[in-house]
Amino acid sequence: MEQEKDKLEQLRDTIAQCDAAITEALKTRMACIKEIIAYKREYGIPVLQPEQEKKQLDAVMHSTKDSVFRHEILHIFEGIIENSKRIQAKELFDKNILLIGFMGAGKTTVSACLGNLLAMEVMEMDAYIQKKEGMSIKDIFAVHGEEYFRNCESNTLISLQEKRHMVVSCGGGVPLREKNVALMKKSGYVVWLTATPEAIFDRVKDSTERPLLNGNMRVDFIRDLMESRREKYEAAADICIDTTEKDIVEICEELLQKLFSLQNIN
Ligand code: S3P
Repeated sequence: MEQEKDKLEQLRDTIAQCDAAITEALKTRMACIKEIIAYKREYGIPVLQPEQEKKQLDAVMHSTKDSVFRHEILHIFEGIIENSKRIQAKELFDKNILLIGFMGAGKTTVSACLGNLLAMEVMEMDAYIQKKEGMSIKDIFAVHGEEYFRNCESNTLISLQEKRHMVVSCGGGVPLREKNVALMKKSGYVVWLTATPEAIFDRVKDSTERPLLNGNMRVDFIRDLMESRREKYEAAADICIDTTEKDIVEICEELLQKLFSLQNIN
């Protein structure tokens, strides 16, 4: 019995040593993440390097290929990488990032990509309102009218004021109200995504979920509506990115670099 107890204590000691080693390794790893971000910013190196994440996971896959705990270790590594991205995002931005722009400008796609690459929480404003109201945007317009929908947008922005490190994909009409612009600016960096009317048309032509375009699905209508909103978008935006014919990581990287320049100016 005495011997068995010793054995148990020994195993527990070994675990305690492992935990201490893991903790130290994680502290070192996380400090490196902070240094890497500072270095990339200083030397203008792209922040988003998705291929690097793949390399890290491949290395762990390789070194665990004979382990019975492979699955568990990989799961832990995914968590470590996720947390590293969170550290990165906090280093990069102290506020939210709000994406504005015309329907089909790429707000949803860009916010999802940024959310994934930097482990930032994403809010899709239309989806949030639909869930809260228990009906589609199309039905909100039909049942309550556009004014009611615009009030939902303003209320969503108010509820965002306490949040940090979020990417918010705003509905295309959000910057039309001055009050909304003030709320957006208070909450974070406002990024205006734009594209040519032809590219927009191509992206939204099969959608029936955008009441303003239903029955108006034509390039000239899109061009006119975009033009009539241009001034409002311009006034709200801290930076602008044309998404026409760019790939998604390229757009996200341009966004980050432009936000850094903005931070350096302010
Ligand atoms: C609108 C844009 C839509 C949606 C609603 C009204 C607008 O959002 O909020 O149909 O006024 O431009 P998306 O820009 O995300 O499509």
